[in-house]
Amino acid sequence: MLKDTQIKRMFERIAFSYDLQNSVLSMGQDMRWRKVLADSIQAFDGNLVLDMATGTAEVAIEICRRHPRSRVIGIDFSPGMLAIGRRKTRARKLENRIYLSIGDARALPLKSTSFDTVSMAFGIRNIAERREVLSEFHRVLKPGGQLLIMEFGYPEDRLLRKLYKLYFDWILPLIGNWLSRTNYAYTHLVESVRAFPSEEGFLEEIAESGFVDLKVRKLTRGIAQIFSGIRQGGPRHLRSPMA
Ligand SMILES: C[S@@+](CC[C@H](N)C(=O)[O-])C[C@H]1O[C@@H](n2cnc3c(N)ncnc32)[C@H](O)[C@@H]1O
Repeated sequence: MLKDTQIKRMFERIAFSYDLQNSVLSMGQDMRWRKVLADSIQAFDGNLVLDMATGTAEVAIEICRRHPRSRVIGIDFSPGMLAIGRRKTRARKLENRIYLSIGDARALPLKSTSFDTVSMAFGIRNIAERREVLSEFHRVLKPGGQLLIMEFGYPEDRLLRKLYKLYFDWILPLIGNWLSRTNYAYTHLVESVRAFPSEEGFLEEIAESGFVDLKVRKLTRGIAQIFSGIRQGGPRHLRSPMA
């Protein structure tokens, strides 16, 4: 597993073609997965969403498309990824609804109990200190607020799993490393998915961080999955999110 400084450097390096890498390697499925993630948000007027590890803001943009009155704060520790995200939000005239800022998931520069939803797509497996991150998510969510974490998985069906592993372990790193002009970015992807806890193990970590009503939704036969939970507690109340 790469160290956090190496991971940050890696995203800085691959940012230039990150969106293309995603679409090619997932054969276009990534867009559908982000739509499902955005649709999983409990919508109500003026939802305030934290999209953590927002990268090039694909999830943030999708949330705004599907929830016309929501606002999103997108945080990421890679300035290069955020710069591309900012270009995209400006091009879509979403700068008034999506605010992108630098920050580390392990110590969020945000006030407690200020968000209705926290989303994170394909970010958590890059971070060794998962429990710190989950407890930060718990801290910034309002009581009753919703957590949605999307990550890669493997198909449950044995034959499909074998075939997918052939692609994922051998073909994807070759194409991904070539598209990203590195010799390690997609080798890291494969290793980080392998090192990620089992579904039960991760659900346990989420539960231990104070979330209830836990669910897992499988996408494309389990190649991606959305873990969801609710921050336990009383009524929601609005506060300004920036510390
Ligand atoms: C695979 S990308 C996912 C980007 C985006 N969510 C998407 O769906 O395309 C992972 C992102 O997590 C960010 N990241 C990794 N570790 C982080 C940390 N500790 N704090 C903040 N961002 C982090 C990286 O900079 C990168 O932009």
